[in-house]
Amino acid sequence: MSQTLVTSALLYANGPLHFGHIAGAYLPADIYVRTLRMRGEDVLSVSGSDDHGVAITIAAERAGEDYGAYVKRWHDDMRATFDALDIRYDIVSGTSTCPVHEETSREFFEQLLERGFLVERESEQLYCVHDQMFLADRYVSGTCYVCGHEAARGDECPACGTWIDPLKFEDPACTVCGNRPEKRTTTHWYLDLPRLRDDGIGDWIRGHRWKSNVANFIANLLEDVPERAITRDMSWGVPLPSFLGDKAEGKVLYVWFDAPIGYISFTKELLESRGEAPDAWERWWKSEDTRLVHFIGKDNIPFHCLVFPSMLHGTGAGYVLPAEVPANEFYNLEGGKFSTSGGNAFDIKTFLGTWDVDTTRFYLASTMPETSDSDFSMEQFIQIANTSLAGTIGNLASRVLKFIAKNHGGEIPPIGEAYAAEMDTVLLSECGELEDPAEHITAFRFRKAAEALVRNASAANVFVDRMAPWALRKEDPEKASASLATLCDYLGWISRWMAPFMPTKAQTLWEMLGCDGEVSAQPWPGVPEAGAWRSLPAGQPLGELGPLFPRVELPKASA
Ligand code: MF3
Ligand code: ZN
Repeated sequence: MSQTLVTSALLYANGPLHFGHIAGAYLPADIYVRTLRMRGEDVLSVSGSDDHGVAITIAAERAGEDYGAYVKRWHDDMRATFDALDIRYDIVSGTSTCPVHEETSREFFEQLLERGFLVERESEQLYCVHDQMFLADRYVSGTCYVCGHEAARGDECPACGTWIDPLKFEDPACTVCGNRPEKRTTTHWYLDLPRLRDDGIGDWIRGHRWKSNVANFIANLLEDVPERAITRDMSWGVPLPSFLGDKAEGKVLYVWFDAPIGYISFTKELLESRGEAPDAWERWWKSEDTRLVHFIGKDNIPFHCLVFPSMLHGTGAGYVLPAEVPANEFYNLEGGKFSTSGGNAFDIKTFLGTWDVDTTRFYLASTMPETSDSDFSMEQFIQIANTSLAGTIGNLASRVLKFIAKNHGGEIPPIGEAYAAEMDTVLLSECGELEDPAEHITAFRFRKAAEALVRNASAANVFVDRMAPWALRKEDPEKASASLATLCDYLGWISRWMAPFMPTKAQTLWEMLGCDGEVSAQPWPGVPEAGAWRSLPAGQPLGELGPLFPRVELPKASA
């Protein structure tokens, strides 16, 4: 039996989630998982916070907080945002709090060391005499020697994406005190990516079917992949294994080494908390039946398509490799960037104080940066809310259900056998082409899936206009009733199609139809097939009616 293990990039615990993150990696994962579950598949979905590394320590120092408290604040904020957006995971943990994370990370280190994929090397590193520390990653800055960008960081150039060797900076500066550092000798362990590539993972990467934006990126990277230091001289992080002795003193694993291992440690934590056997996690991580799917933003491609697979392979422990890496491009705020420093009008929890959560989810899905960068635009948000949601789905539900409340005693009307087949033909093949949104969702085409949902609803509006039950009712009441019964059944399909995108609104519609239980617990419907798709019993009383998607407008700018 196949099973799907879904991960979403672990968010750095140094700022709030913004819509760029949500549209990039978290909402698509949530929609995907909800769909697979309705299709009856076995799914485990994991995310959390990336708590280590210099991005965190520098930010915490600037905020004057200790690392643990700082990280916890942002971790809790992340959870609150997921809750507000109805984004659910089986576990949202953190790399500094997960009880088995250190042990799991060190096991990777040991296995890679034992199999000869880690190289121990003494080298010169930049050292700040003033702050008395080696300057790992962002603790040093300088001019990029590839593109000339003046504020390149010791790990990466934000302008051209080059993995920086800070020793090559002509003008290195300590980012804490601004002084010029000196060179000192220290020991580090390097992941031997060239050897791993030649050990087979290179062929696997070249032969794998990646999403096209991923494939292009990886091919180049593989050619001259460097060794990468996976240890750092600092205190915040996963300490190295003690058997290394003195030379490992004061060193921790590099954040990009331990972070993806978090996917595994969080899985262990989850299954343990469910009372499963200590090795239950292996059923997910070491099984040929697992499809591993990493949802990430494009800046994480090298680590998820090259470095982490190399680590998994290099352990020789039988880990699965990713089947799919649906990496999204960047999502911007009307041409600009969403800032992580917060305080803007687009703080998500503030935004959801004004705007409906499901409308927000649907809008983000409709504009997701799947194949190129895209924008969040408030004007477009209003437009999609009013045309696709209020105008198409909401309007359909309200015209049909109100009419039934008024003229059929609020009960689902009977479908006379005489008309059932005709109704099927008209609705299912003459009012527009129907598509299964799940076909797109499972291929990571969330925008197309959102469009399919709206088009399916439009077909029903065409059907209503064609049948005109309000007029038909006088000439042929039985046919009018058949058309309304058909529409009720179809609304039941729409609510199920809506569920992964808009779980709350889907449930509301489900209840308006008088149906019991959770719509998300219903089996996924696919596309209706003539003669075999109806399920609502005649006479079922409708639930409480109200506008499903009230029209929205921008507040008038206050003078
Ligand atoms: N924290 C990283 C970022 O936000 C992503 C880490 S993903 C993981 O860019 F695989 F390392 F967990
Ligand atoms: Zn300094």
